Amino acid sequence: VIAPDAVQVELLALHHDLLPTLARWFREEWPAWYGPGGPGDPEADLLAFATGNDLPIGVVALRDGKPCGVAALKAWSIPSHRHLRPWAAAGYVVPALRGQGIGALLLTALADQARALGYDRIYCSTGTAVSLLQRLGWSQRETVDHDGQTLVIFEKAL
Ligand SMILES: CC(C)(COP(=O)(O)OP(=O)(O)OC[C@H]1O[C@@H](n2cnc3c(N)ncnc32)[C@H](O)[C@@H]1OP(=O)(O)O)[C@@H](O)C(=O)NCCC(=O)NCCS
Repeated sequence: VIAPDAVQVELLALHHDLLPTLARWFREEWPAWYGPGGPGDPEADLLAFATGNDLPIGVVALRDGKPCGVAALKAWSIPSHRHLRPWAAAGYVVPALRGQGIGALLLTALADQARALGYDRIYCSTGTAVSLLQRLGWSQRETVDHDGQTLVIFEKAL
């Protein structure tokens, strides 16, 4: 298990040098979207996460100075729910370090960013991190079918 203070979460805007590594992670984790022939452009999305003071805002988890995770606070997530914002999205932790609390640190950092921008609520849609969000005290709003996948939409008051 990782010592809690061994991992730091920082703004992606401070780490442009890491964008190629993170783009490789996105291609590997989400090949249908970010892989060859997919509609997503990982370099463009990550550059947007690393630019400016408004949404989207990316954060990166660093362990001994090396990247081990990434996430972003975005203006929208699923097309049916553009009326809600902001969203905790694009969460990724390197496979060897999953299940040790880094995802929770990333989510907390995104909530801090949302609060700093003046939002009083944050949202997340996920099919893979349901137990994590429940454990962190997020409330379940609804379940939606998105491209044949069941997603749970969570919200948390800040
Ligand atoms: C989801 C993810 C970012 C969580 O990061 P993490 O560091 O493992 O998270 P934590 O250790 O804080 O919490 C673990 C939780 O992550 C989720 N999880 C998803 N896949 C997991 C895996 N392979 N191993 C461990 N936890 C996983 C579970 O909800 C788990 O909750 P539990 O401990 O109550 O079972 C990470 O597992 C990941 O990168 N998964 C692949 C990409 C993905 O699904 N992203 C989420 C899109 S909404």
